[in-house]
Amino acid sequence: MILGITAQNHDASMALIDGDRIVWAAHSERYSRLKNDTMLNMDMVREMREYSEPTEIVWFEKPLQKDLRRLYAGQSPWIVSPRDQLRLVGLNSLPINYVGHHQSHAAAGYYTSPFEDAAILVVDAIGEWDTVSIWEARGDKMSKRYSRRYPDSIGLFYTAMTQWLGLKPNEEEYILMGMAAYGQPKYVEELRETFFSKWAPPDFKLRHNLHRGCKWWEPTDSNASKFDIAASVQKLTEEYLLETVLTMRYNTGSRNLIFMGGVALNCVANSIIARSGIFDDIWIMPNPGDAGSAIGCVAAHTQQHLKWEGPYLGTDIKREVNVKALVDDLEAGHVVALANGRAEFGPRALGNRSLLCDPRGADAKPRMNTIKKREQFRPFAPAVLAEHADTYFDMPVKDSPYMQFVARCRLPEMLPGVCHVDNSSRVQTVTERDNPLFRSILEEWNKRTGCPILMNTSLNIKGEPLVNSWDDAIRFQNLHNIPVY
Ligand SMILES: [Fe+2]
Repeated sequence: MILGITAQNHDASMALIDGDRIVWAAHSERYSRLKNDTMLNMDMVREMREYSEPTEIVWFEKPLQKDLRRLYAGQSPWIVSPRDQLRLVGLNSLPINYVGHHQSHAAAGYYTSPFEDAAILVVDAIGEWDTVSIWEARGDKMSKRYSRRYPDSIGLFYTAMTQWLGLKPNEEEYILMGMAAYGQPKYVEELRETFFSKWAPPDFKLRHNLHRGCKWWEPTDSNASKFDIAASVQKLTEEYLLETVLTMRYNTGSRNLIFMGGVALNCVANSIIARSGIFDDIWIMPNPGDAGSAIGCVAAHTQQHLKWEGPYLGTDIKREVNVKALVDDLEAGHVVALANGRAEFGPRALGNRSLLCDPRGADAKPRMNTIKKREQFRPFAPAVLAEHADTYFDMPVKDSPYMQFVARCRLPEMLPGVCHVDNSSRVQTVTERDNPLFRSILEEWNKRTGCPILMNTSLNIKGEPLVNSWDDAIRFQNLHNIPVY
């Protein structure tokens, strides 16, 4: 029984793995209730031990290399070492193995994928040294074919621009992506000229180290709209990814693409890659950022494919849900909370820790944004019975069970709550195999209303971690006067 750990990054996590079975996996923040908690905590360790006692640990990166890079970047090395951290939660007596940061990302993708061979792209802000890496995998073996190193980093460029726009770096990159739909990519060439001295994807070179942001930058047009800047940042990133994926298709033997690292959370870019048809098939593990590397580091260590049964791997709420009563509430126009089964491992609520409501009508989006204390422009995602997805959405992929792709909504007037300003929707398709309870709710809703879609958003308020336990759910119900099932 092996315990994979990520910590001292921006989202600590753990995964317990037995041979090819992922027994349990969870995020620290769900227990400590501190959003993006970087440290492990005893409540999480206690729950892990209810499943089993690990016999060894794999850590998701190499601390010495990371410290060297931090020194090079002018940062101080970690005061708390991984061993100190493990001592704090009583895990210091176990043998510990270290795996490279990008190797953990690549392995989280490959060994959970349905593929027997693949070309793997990893793009993030920064780990040890690598910022972009390309891997080839066949059978149980992965080999690195290419890497770009710090301080040249597409992820750091995106994060620096997130901060430039007044958003929180390393957290609100998804808001930049959402803003992009409101703007025109007028400044792509200016950004490329200003920030890049070489552009030949996958190769590139930055003119400046963007680790501490780029607040010094002033666009030549002093009246440039922030939405146009966001659109230009997004477009330049999409160009880089698409050109890189094209070179991968030429240079590797596989027809299957795996995309991992924090940049793989960019569902607009993911859809452009999927729709391009450069590769026949694409797999993005539903937790492609650092937290998912708790699974990846173990897989990189054992070099063994894992049985992927879905992302429902965390705290188990074992209750009977009264589907009819829940749908009664939805039909009466209420927002309903659903907290049942095992918590999602990954950033998206996929029906086990979700807020649901009728997606039809102009008031759905503003009402939910008010409840969640979010910016009014931000859209919500639709969960749809899989067999009806094509009727309502122009899907870039056949199935999208983890909300990783955006699709053009065919009926935006009918579904304003789940359409962005450019009529795109981040669709979750739901089959019996994906999530039987959520499926039965959607079926009952469809039977009564003729609409196979519900608005689905995470069960939290902006800035808070997702509800994890039943106690959290009851607190949420009492605080916000929303019925919890
Ligand atoms: Fe990373």
